[in-house]
Amino acid sequence: MGLVLGIESSCDETAVALVTSERHILAQRIASQDAEHAPYGGVVPEIAARAHAERLAPMIEAVLEETGISLPELDAIAATAGPGLIGGVMVGLVSAKALAMASGVPLLAINHLEGHALSPRLADAELQFPYALLLVSGGHCQILRVDGVGQYRRFATTIDDALGEAFDKTAKLLGLGYPGGPAVERLAQQGDGTAVPLPRPLVGSGEPHFSFAGLKSAVMRAKESGQHSDADVAASFQQAAIDCLLDRLRIALDAMGPVPALVVAGGVAANAAIRSALESMAAKHSMRFVAPPLALCTDNAAMIAWAGIERLPMGQFDPLDVSARPRWPLDPDAEPARGAGVKA
Ligand code: KG4
Ligand code: ZN
Repeated sequence: MGLVLGIESSCDETAVALVTSERHILAQRIASQDAEHAPYGGVVPEIAARAHAERLAPMIEAVLEETGISLPELDAIAATAGPGLIGGVMVGLVSAKALAMASGVPLLAINHLEGHALSPRLADAELQFPYALLLVSGGHCQILRVDGVGQYRRFATTIDDALGEAFDKTAKLLGLGYPGGPAVERLAQQGDGTAVPLPRPLVGSGEPHFSFAGLKSAVMRAKESGQHSDADVAASFQQAAIDCLLDRLRIALDAMGPVPALVVAGGVAANAAIRSALESMAAKHSMRFVAPPLALCTDNAAMIAWAGIERLPMGQFDPLDVSARPRWPLDPDAEPARGAGVKA
């Protein structure tokens, strides 16, 4: 049996988890920093790094105490090493290095995106490679073909905002606070998704990538016009986002060839309307649809520990001088998207 301690600190969740190769999450802790960042309407990197530094060590201690497991019993210590806010990433990675050094347990520097990409296999023992993955979070919006651990081919990314970011900005425009995704989804339930005419950027263009900046500007104009209820704006925004997702996915699925499953991961996968649209699309393509439970969709450490479990058989551990990486694409061979620079 493999046993891995996972540490996540790349954005605004501090998280620790102990996971086994039998897919048991023996213990986990997640501390959200929503309250710290809420006054600013988004994550402030310096505040995030400080909060991780204060919270992480006691959380590691608590997880070990709860399970009665001591460090030398672990097969690896896995920490997110990027991509993400570099201050926070360094807090988690350096903590993992110190534990690895003190205990002699090997270190695994995990790509946060690989955590999201493999998390559906933690929840679902039946999910085999290959699968099509829609990875939609606050920082990323990608469609990948996952052929194995470490084998990712990117078919689409965003040329401007990530989808979660578009939800968060829409929430801010509507005065819904932070984090915005769940609030926009709740308000959208009371609105009419056809009420406000909003653009579907790049739909019909044949271009594989996403773009949400124009949609966000249109939401702002709709709000400022004063002609629509906030609920209708939220519902229409969500519908436009779904239409964009389905259109881009259609192009990507054609390009990647037949795969048996469509998988969604990342924080935006918590959105029920998006899940159900994806489920119908998968059915139309005769694909299985897999969406991890909500707690595994948003940032967590169980997915980092699980990525470590998946990497154990490769025996490729990382040296204690491994660097934190603010950028770390899953598919290093993917061509940069037109206009992309920030979120490749
Ligand atoms: O994966 P995640 O926790 O962190 C990143 O790696 O970015 O994703 C957070 C993002 C935020 O932008 C949040 O607004 C969005 O996921 N999100 C949602 C929902 N729940 C979280 N977006 C739409 N609907 C939701 N229910
Ligand atoms: Zn994430």
